[in-house]
This record gives sequence, structure tokens and C-alpha cells, in this order.
Amino acid sequence: MAGQESAYRVDALVAEDIDAYLAQHQAKSLLRFITCGSVDDGKSTLIGRLLYDSKMIFEDQLSALEADSKRVGTQGQNIDFALLVDGLAAEREQGITIDVAYRFFATEKRKFIVADTPGHEQYTRNMVTGASTADLAVILIDARKGVLTQTRRHSYLAHLIGIRHIVLAVNKMDLVGYDRQVFDRIVADYRAFANSIGIDAFTPIPISGLGGDNIASRSAITPWYSGPTLIEHLETVDVDIDAVATEPFRMPVQWVNRPNLDFRGFSGLIASGTVRPGDAVRIVPSGRTSKIARIVAMGGDLDEARAGQSVTITLADEIDCSRGDLIAAASAPPEVADQFQATIVWMDAEPMLVGRAYWLKIGAQMVSATIQEPRHAVDVNTMAELSVRTLELNDIGVAEVYTDRPIAFEAYATNRDLGGFILIDKITNATVAAGLLSFALRRSQNVHWQSIEITRDAHAAQKGQRPKLLWFTGLSGSGKSTIANLVEKRLHALGKHSFLLDGDNIRHGLNRDLGFTDADRIENIRRVGEVAKLMTDAGLIVLTAFISPFRAERSMVRSMFAERDFIEIFISTPLAVAEERDVKGLYKKARAGDLKNFTGIDSPYEEPEAPELIIDTTAMSPDDAADLIVRTCLA
Ligand code: ADX
Repeated sequence: MAGQESAYRVDALVAEDIDAYLAQHQAKSLLRFITCGSVDDGKSTLIGRLLYDSKMIFEDQLSALEADSKRVGTQGQNIDFALLVDGLAAEREQGITIDVAYRFFATEKRKFIVADTPGHEQYTRNMVTGASTADLAVILIDARKGVLTQTRRHSYLAHLIGIRHIVLAVNKMDLVGYDRQVFDRIVADYRAFANSIGIDAFTPIPISGLGGDNIASRSAITPWYSGPTLIEHLETVDVDIDAVATEPFRMPVQWVNRPNLDFRGFSGLIASGTVRPGDAVRIVPSGRTSKIARIVAMGGDLDEARAGQSVTITLADEIDCSRGDLIAAASAPPEVADQFQATIVWMDAEPMLVGRAYWLKIGAQMVSATIQEPRHAVDVNTMAELSVRTLELNDIGVAEVYTDRPIAFEAYATNRDLGGFILIDKITNATVAAGLLSFALRRSQNVHWQSIEITRDAHAAQKGQRPKLLWFTGLSGSGKSTIANLVEKRLHALGKHSFLLDGDNIRHGLNRDLGFTDADRIENIRRVGEVAKLMTDAGLIVLTAFISPFRAERSMVRSMFAERDFIEIFISTPLAVAEERDVKGLYKKARAGDLKNFTGIDSPYEEPEAPELIIDTTAMSPDDAADLIVRTCLA
């Protein structure tokens, strides 16, 4: 369609010219904002109008747009501003990729980046993405409809994500006769709601996107309105960028810049505070201290740098500091912890798996983390707290997060860069959630590692063996327990100290509380991994026989061991063969529908990709398998 073509062209040209454009407007301050509302509220028209009125549309695009509008013929003589931005709609409908369109424009006083997200309910994650870098949100309301569920949802999300400036743009005033009472009533309704969720101030503006009223210039038809026009407000609103500069200094190290032996600089974007040569700093989490030697930037050394600037810092001492560390003011370092309460926005089609290890990326730090069962989820339409077992696409919930090592952080409410994180699936590498750290759990600060004098090595030496974990995995009835038993008998005969942890047995005691849902199987394996780790610390050779159907948990256990001490043994038996054997009669039950979530039937088994050993039980006897495993284990 012609309309779409021209809209794509606007985007392409703007994107191409962006460097030149930003350079030209360098001196002006930048305001990032997000528009919230649906097509019905007139959002596209409003954004088109902002671009048009700020004269950021190049002449040739403008004439193309005028031609398109005539062809489409929706607005008579007027330009249809919606054509400028609706070009992406087709793309939006197709994919589930996060679709946020960013547009750039400028006025005499300021430059702007506006994030435009689809208004539909399914798009919580888009809005959260668009809002995460915004300083201000324009909440659009159709004057004929007033405050709607979606208005509440958008406001809640904007507030949650840390946007402190809200504009309530009451649009389509032309369709309610520019009636002051209509406007006042909507503002009063909104105020009551906003206050209830903690928004204590907002700027209401009566506008008409179509007529241009109170957007770039004050409208003569609303003499009763004495506040700023939308553009005036956007140009002058004080978004306290400076407030972050007065906080204590913090810079996450993005990379270590080491061009030669004489220079070792730490590069990153200053997240808060100001810094000068000579300042005392602390590297977190290690806690080592030093002083700033130089602040190196593009044009030469700086006497001072502040929040928002990208710099390279050199330190007075040769101390350990690497990517992911934080350089902070020595006198006011950030907290370090490994257990938190957080708000999580789930963005993946696959639900969250409680206990699954995900990558957690916060600033430049990347750690492994697990999420506990949510305390509650929030209904974004009513703000009610819901009791849930997990989080699904677009759900927002509060849960505890455990990381595998301590990280430096700041509450999200204090600093978005240091308190905001994303979760990444370790296998697919997809971003599955965004999160906001609220606070560290006190127990994490009060539990320390006790140093023990009889070490793992001492235990092992006394037993005269190298402790290992032999991890058997495979379908139910594949032969794991049988072969593991034979292996242990051989080890025992050889005078080795061993212990066999077997699925069915452990599920009678330690894991009696667990069933066969994905979440329970994850917890089953986590506990078994921890127990196996303790037993190897005690110097034992440990054998485990669990289906352990998921790659992620097997690799999580693997990561707890040195490379040659974890031996993954895949007992490979085709489903048909295991089912044929059906030693416990469980396959029959599962086929009859009397046993739910049975591995291989209605619950998945993910075969190992690179196990140390594959035992094909259709080609090898259990005794031969045991001999092979013992040889590998003791090699
Ligand atoms: S795992 O998936 O969490 O690793 P685990 O090895 O502990 O499973 O337990 C599997 C054993 O439990 C099976 O060998 C079988 O005897 C029994 N079992 C009972 N219900 C199921 C089920 N739904 N799926 C798989 N095994 C089950």
C-alpha cells in the first residue's frame, strides 16, 4: 500500500541520518518519552502531528505524504498523520518479536526520542521495553471514553518501570465540543486512580491531534485552559537527569581497555554520580580500593565526568578489576547480595520455570539465577494481587531471585541501570523476562561461608581416590538403576568409597514433597545436585540415577563440578524398548491415561548433546556397560 511505503521511507531516512542528526543537535538536551494508547485514541495521528509540527519531516517525504493522503482520501484536504506511523502495523501483527518503534525529532529547544508501542493487551512486554529508557510517558485518552482499563494498565506499567513524569493527553477534544467539564471530569477520575497507585503528580493537557489544538500552539477554542501546550511541556519538563549526577559515583565496567602493557583502562557508562582524578574508589564485589588516576575520553583527559557519560578510567594501583565489576565511590559503595526480592515481567511464550537456572544480566554483570515461586502476580487491569504458581507471557509478579554469586546492585527505584535486569534462557539465548530489583533479602547478608579445616582434598586423600559424580540419565525403564548398581558393585570391589543416589529411593525421603511437573523435576534435580556435591566434598564417588529429563538442569549440576569430575552417562534406550520392558507397569498406566506427565509419553525427555558416555542398551549388556563406565571413571 502506498501509505505504508511512505511510512517505511520516513523511518529509513530518519535512521540513516541519525548520526548526522544527533551531531547537529548535540548541544540540546535529550528527552526520551513513550506514548501509551491505542490507534483508537488517536495515537498515530498525535505522533505524526508532533513530527510534522516540529518540522522534522523532510520536504520530499512531506509531499509523498500529501499525495498518499489524497489517494487514501481519509481526511479530505488534511494530511493523514496516521499514515506516517501506521506503516509498521503489518509487521506488528506478524511477529512476536518485541516491536517498539523509535522516532527522532527536534524542536528549537530540545531533541526527542519517542518510543511507540502497540496498545493491545498482549503487548505488555513491548511497553515495558519501550518504557525502560523513557523519562516521560504520554498517556493518551479519548475524551469521549474517559479513563479506561487500558489507561490504568499503561499508567501502572509506566510507573512500575520508573517513569516519574506523566502527561495525561486528553485527545479528541474536538469531538466533545472542547467542553471544559468533560476535561475536568476525566482529570478528576484519573487523579483518583493515579494517587491509588503512587503517581502523585501528572500534567493534564486537552488536545486534538487532528486539529492540532494545544500541541504546538495554544488553541483559541480552549480559552479555559491556561497550562502549557504539549510541545512546550515536552521542551521544558525537568527530567532530573542531574539528580542522578548527585548520587554516589558508580560505573559498571563494560570492558577492560588494554592496548599495551603501559595502559590499563576500564571503560563504561557512568550510571550515577560524578568522578574526578584523585577520588577514592572501591571495586565491587571484590571490595578492593584504589584512586582514580585519569579519566580518558574522546577528546583528551577530563577533570570531571558525570552520570550519562561514557569514559575510560585508569586507577592508581594495579588491582584486579574486570568486565562486570562496578567501580564505585569508596565512601558509599553499593550493596552486594545474592538473594533479592524483585518484580518480574515475563516476556516469553514459554512460562517461567521455578528453580530453572537462567542467565541474569544486570548492567555489565552476568550471573546464573533461579526464581522462586511468585509471592503473587499483579492483575494489570485491576491492580489486584493474584496467587499464582508461575508467570506466563505478559504476567507481572513479585518473586525471590537467587544468584549463584554476589552482585553489586541498587534498588531499581533508586537507579534503573543498577537495579534493572533481564533474564536469558541458557539454551535458546532468548530474553525471557525483565526484572526490577526491590531489595536484598536480609538472610543473604547474614549467612556467611564458614571455613572448614578438613577440606575436600583432605577427605579425598584419606580415601585415596578422586571424588567424582557419575550422572546417569535416560527414560524411565532405560536401565539406569540396573547399570548404576553394577558399576557401584565393581567400584566397591575395587576398594573405592562410593554412594548411589537413586530416583525412586530419594523420592521416598528427601524429595517426598515433589511430584512430576516440570517445576518439581527441576527442584528434584537441584536438590540431588546439591547432595551429590556435598558427598563428593566428603570424598566419595557418587552415582545418581534420575531421569533428569532437562538439559538445563543437567548442565546446572555440571557447572558445580570441575570438568573431569562430572561424567554424564546417557543410558540410551528407545522409548519403544523401555515401554516394552515396562518393569514397573507405569507405561501401561500412562498410555491408559491413569498417570499424567509421564516422561516420553506426555512429558519431554531432552537427550544429552555431549555426554561423556552413551550406553546403547540394545547393543550392549548391562555388565559390559558397567565395565566400560568403570574404566572411564577411573581413567
Ligand atoms: S525426574 O524426572 O525428576 O528425574 P526421577 O528419576 O526422580 O524423575 O523419578 C523417576 C521415577 O519415578 C520413574 O522411574 C518412575 O518409577 C517414577 N514415576 C512416577 N511417575 C512418573 C512420571 N510421571 N514420569 C516419570 N517417572 C515417574
